[in-house]
Amino acid sequence: MLQKLAQIEEEALAALANIQDEAALEAWRIANMGRSAPVMSVFSQMGALSKEERPLVGQRANQVKLAIESAFAQKAEEVKQAALQKSLASERLDVTLPGRPLRQGRLHPATQNLRRILSILGEMGFQVYTSREVESDEYNFQLLNIPPYHPAREMQDTFYIETGVTEEAERQVLRTHTSPGQIRAMRQFAAENPPNPPEIRIALPGMVYRFEQITSRSEVQFNQVEGLVVGKNITFGDLKGTLAEFVRRMFGRSAKTRFRASYFPFTEPSAEMDVECFVCGGKGCGVCKKSGWLEILGCGMVHPTVLQNGGYDPAVYSGFAFGMGPERQLMLRHKITDIRYLWGNDMRFLEQF
Ligand code: PHE
Repeated sequence: MLQKLAQIEEEALAALANIQDEAALEAWRIANMGRSAPVMSVFSQMGALSKEERPLVGQRANQVKLAIESAFAQKAEEVKQAALQKSLASERLDVTLPGRPLRQGRLHPATQNLRRILSILGEMGFQVYTSREVESDEYNFQLLNIPPYHPAREMQDTFYIETGVTEEAERQVLRTHTSPGQIRAMRQFAAENPPNPPEIRIALPGMVYRFEQITSRSEVQFNQVEGLVVGKNITFGDLKGTLAEFVRRMFGRSAKTRFRASYFPFTEPSAEMDVECFVCGGKGCGVCKKSGWLEILGCGMVHPTVLQNGGYDPAVYSGFAFGMGPERQLMLRHKITDIRYLWGNDMRFLEQF
């Protein structure tokens, strides 16, 4: 029996020595360490041995079993290392290959232009004030001197939000312009600084919504940038000087501007500002509809009622306000003929900016 064990060990180890790959190793493991391995059959034959032989043979059989197991563990490690070396040698990385370029993102042209407007206004001392997009009828219209049934509401066909509220003033709307932010800002500053509200010079950017048929010229949502300046002795001259300077910084020092009388319920007097057509230089073309001028913003002196509604005494304070459309300016500047390109997310369009 002991001789047989020596032979089992010798044969197993000899077979193991010749193994090179994992498949052969696995076959060897099953043959020499599995349930029907030769060494296992020795264990099962022990019952037939004498009392004296049994411990000797048992001890030896255990030695052989352990020797086979540890030889296997060592071989398994060798085979694994060999496989790794082989793959390292054959699958070499070429670190000198140039990388694949990442597609670089960029800001949407409307965002670029909005930021440019805010940075110019920022240089001119305006701080950004953000106001809510969902407004009450009261703030969007009534406090701005636009009472219920006022014809100006027709100009701003409105998205009303279903809240179940029936009270006219409390009806919720998607703001049709950034002007309600004027009231929010004035009321906040007045409430924080009684009894002397501070002077104001703010820019109010953000999305506005109008219930329009979407065409090449009108969208249901777009940005506005509102400006509000309130102080003592603020005049129409300040309005003109500030906006003319804004246009020079925005469109170049030689940009010519003109003011036309207009009407807004929340400013008095009201005006619209035109800039000389930068496509034809004022000669008249398709973009300016042969007039030589492009309308770029609405403005005016803050109406006394609006100052009052904001908590600023119109006998002491005066101010001016303006509102412009960054996307409209962008379209004029780049001769974009269809507003739907702006929110269409067509990369061929966006990549040009
Ligand atoms: N809110 C006006 C509009 O949406 C623009 C405006 C703002 C006009 C401030 C005057 C003063 O058309």
